[in-house]
Amino acid sequence: MLLRNTDFIELPVFVKGKVRDVYEVGSDMLLMVVTDRISAFDVVFDDLIPNKGKVLNGISEFWFDYCKDIIGNHVVTTDVSEYPMGLSKFKEELQGRSMLVKKVKMIEAECIVRGYLEGSGLKDYIATGKISGIELPKGLKQADRLPEPIFTPSTKAKEGHDINVSYDYVKEQIGEELAEKLKEKSIELYKKASEYAMTKGIIIADTKFEFGILNGELVIADEMFTPDSSRFWELSDYEPGRTQKSFDKQFLREYLETLDWNKQPPAPKLPQDVIEKTSAKYIEAYERITGKKFQA
Ligand SMILES: Nc1ncnc2c1ncn2[C@@H]1O[C@H](COP(=O)(O)OP(=O)(O)O)[C@@H](O)[C@H]1O
Ligand SMILES: [Mg+2]
Repeated sequence: MLLRNTDFIELPVFVKGKVRDVYEVGSDMLLMVVTDRISAFDVVFDDLIPNKGKVLNGISEFWFDYCKDIIGNHVVTTDVSEYPMGLSKFKEELQGRSMLVKKVKMIEAECIVRGYLEGSGLKDYIATGKISGIELPKGLKQADRLPEPIFTPSTKAKEGHDINVSYDYVKEQIGEELAEKLKEKSIELYKKASEYAMTKGIIIADTKFEFGILNGELVIADEMFTPDSSRFWELSDYEPGRTQKSFDKQFLREYLETLDWNKQPPAPKLPQDVIEKTSAKYIEAYERITGKKFQA
């Protein structure tokens, strides 16, 4: 089944994002549901991508577990039959695409780690020779691997795009000790996951984490190493000096480039083959990362 909206859930809305709907479950938990919606250039499409929600949820679930020796996380359960508040009756709708999590006190920093030169990091490098004040070797090309992964936090803007900030700024905002820990954990997580992904033929070029405090402990919340929070590249197609194909949205982007669309809503209707190829790519990411066959 395809899931567009979650209005059948009669709980207070915590937030509805472009792709995920999050509900309050009592005073200390959240239900995070990943729908099959897709967005590009910040515009949500009318068409749904079959199985996308399950794939994103499953990938995140895999990484929370894979990285639990580095840091604890917000997951309570992904088994709908254990959900409280009468939610277990929505097994059909929610199983595989949702998580019950502990509500944590989020730290107001988007913890970005970059292993490769792309996106706003590339722009910064071209303009200043640095990224967020971090010196880098001269002569790097687009998509080149950096000598070491770097920590380049940004602040969550309430609206529009996030703003890159220096590590010193984060220290001022949340204190030196916590800032050090965020940096250390972020880099450790990136190294562990990117080394693993490489063995599956996927480059994780960069990623974003959101941390929070739960019972006085630092934990990782939100999502982990999904194609939504990270740049995934196909290792076999990797070639520095040009834009890499986006692992998940490559067919969507290529199709959109053939159109005369101004990237403002309303989004165009997608052809069936673009929908199918995009869905297949998501499933491939799931299977390569988790090593499991995807169960629709
Ligand atoms: N365990 C948690 N406790 C509290 N807030 C969380 C937790 N996990 C994620 N969040 C927050 O929930 C929101 C999820 O929204 P999201 O679907 O990512 O949409 P967007 O990125 O557009 O805000 C984010 O603001 C995130 O910081
Ligand atoms: Mg988000």
